[in-house]
Amino acid sequence: MRIPATVEIMQIEILEHEPPYRVGVIIGSLARESINRKLAGALEKVAPSEFEFFEISYADLPLYSYDYDADYPQVALDFKAAVASADAVLFVTPEYNRSIPGALKNAIDWGSRPWGQNAWADKPTGVIGASAGAIGTALAQQSLRATLSFLNARQMTAPEAYIRFTPGLIEADGTITEDRTEAFLRNFMEKFFEHTLRVLTVIPRP
Ligand code: FNR
Repeated sequence: MRIPATVEIMQIEILEHEPPYRVGVIIGSLARESINRKLAGALEKVAPSEFEFFEISYADLPLYSYDYDADYPQVALDFKAAVASADAVLFVTPEYNRSIPGALKNAIDWGSRPWGQNAWADKPTGVIGASAGAIGTALAQQSLRATLSFLNARQMTAPEAYIRFTPGLIEADGTITEDRTEAFLRNFMEKFFEHTLRVLTVIPRP
């Protein structure tokens, strides 16, 4: 059977897309001593070498309103450009009151607009989080997944990772002090790498 021309073009684009793959990390907490920031540091440390990480900051975004849609402020344009430049986005979020923190939701809303210019569409994404409580951000992640689903992000659905954070679990330099947790997080990042490649293979970046 003849391969359609569009398929040939896709194959060329995939070959052109070589490592490193740039992962934009969005940390759901603005707290200085955030345990999720510590978790993000640990994930970088155990990730496959083909990944390169940068943080996508959103702390300076104003509260979103569609009144801004006609004239997006520069800080929001920069935020969207950072999302667009990432090969994949990894959300590392706490759970606040059984959902994601408001500042994170605000940032996601900014990224989704103006209508028709949704920065999350087709983006390879991963979700993980840490809390001191036993459910390890499970409800926040469900909430985040619902939003990402609506926004047509390409989520890694498995493995899931609900991290119960205990004092000393992760050192300041990102070292994970518990072997079992280290192996679990290493596997999570390997799977996220596979997921990213799979998405970029099917949906090459523009
Ligand atoms: C929390 N915390 C919390 N924990 C949890 O497991 N489920 C929850 O619903 C909440 N709700 C909640 C609301 C608010 C406003 C705060 C400040 C905290 C506790 C939370 O897991 C703990 O503070 C973590 O340290 C938060 O992660 P970061 O911000 O340190 O990364």
